[in-house]
Amino acid sequence: MKLKQLSLVNFRSFSNKSFKFSPAITLIVGDNGAGKTNLLEALFLLSTGRSFRATKEAQMINNGAELARIQTQTETDSLEIVLTTGEIAGQKVAKKRYLLNGVAKRRMDFISCLRCVLFRPEDINLILGSPSLRRDYLDTVLESVDWQYRRSNLAYQKGLRQRNKLLQRIREGEAQRSQLLFWNRLLIKNGELISQKRQELIDFINHQLETDQRNTRLEYDKSAISPERLEKYKEAEVGAGATLIGPHRDDVKFLKSNQRDLALYGSRGEQRMAVLATKLSELVFITQRIQEKPLLLLDDIFSELDENNRQLVWQLINQHQTIITATDEDLVSQQTFDKIIKIGK
Ligand SMILES: Nc1ncnc2c1ncn2[C@@H]1O[C@H](COP(=O)(O)OP(=O)(O)OP(=O)(O)O)[C@@H](O)[C@H]1O
Ligand SMILES: [Mg+2]
Repeated sequence: MKLKQLSLVNFRSFSNKSFKFSPAITLIVGDNGAGKTNLLEALFLLSTGRSFRATKEAQMINNGAELARIQTQTETDSLEIVLTTGEIAGQKVAKKRYLLNGVAKRRMDFISCLRCVLFRPEDINLILGSPSLRRDYLDTVLESVDWQYRRSNLAYQKGLRQRNKLLQRIREGEAQRSQLLFWNRLLIKNGELISQKRQELIDFINHQLETDQRNTRLEYDKSAISPERLEKYKEAEVGAGATLIGPHRDDVKFLKSNQRDLALYGSRGEQRMAVLATKLSELVFITQRIQEKPLLLLDDIFSELDENNRQLVWQLINQHQTIITATDEDLVSQQTFDKIIKIGK
């Protein structure tokens, strides 16, 4: 499904701006701070319902405004997200709303409409950052292609919050242990599905990394959830007032093929290549699952790649609708673009 245009109203640095994209390759050029990453952030948000950098919705709203609109037109649909600070004219309102062809949708029914794969220099944080970044990564990939995963993940997160509250109340002597049973069942049922799908994704990526002869392997550090394990951790959980096992405690290790942990032993270049190889495998995974080519979003990545990997990425770009950003046209001048958009402050 091709993307045609994007309109931004009060989104980040844009007060009101529209962009038209080529069905092939569009280059976005502009100086530092011009808003290139903001534009990709808007597209990623429309695709996944999440920002890759904002921790709160309000950060994405133009300074001083109450409401931001991000709207895109594909060949078949209009997708729109409305962001607010949570309050308009003194009235409480939703911070984020999803509209498909003008009709309000839940996030889980919205995010399958536009699939993208994003490459950016900060991807290296997947290796260097905290486990929650790696879990978010698995979630983003799986949610974009698998409605069962979306449903289970939503149920699991809600159940987890309830169960943690209950554990705290048990600790305070305000609730009975027997009340845990309901939440245990809910977390086990959904948690098992989440673990299984995460395992499948990691197996797929590993198989692809092997096929591509990349010197990297992922290892799923799974926090399994089961009746036996919950029984074992019961006392500790009541003491902590929190659920101590389950997919919300999962992690993934990036290993060199000699088993060494890349976060601890890899060079910066090795880490960068391992992440790129993983993302390329993700692209194959998504393409196979949806039986169509996702949109590629590339944020200023060429300066980071060596010549071999640059060639590899160019080959891909030529097979997908792609939106690339760069500060300098020369950096990407080996290529001719179907469309170049210059943005300035
Ligand atoms: N909520 C907001 N309201 C207004 N401006 C914002 C908001 N959030 C971010 N900005 C501005 O957007 C600009 C950053 O845009 P962006 O990160 O997209 O730049 P860029 O073109 O990607 O730059 P670089 O080449 O350095 O990566 C900054 O000037 C920042 O002040
Ligand atoms: Mg940028």
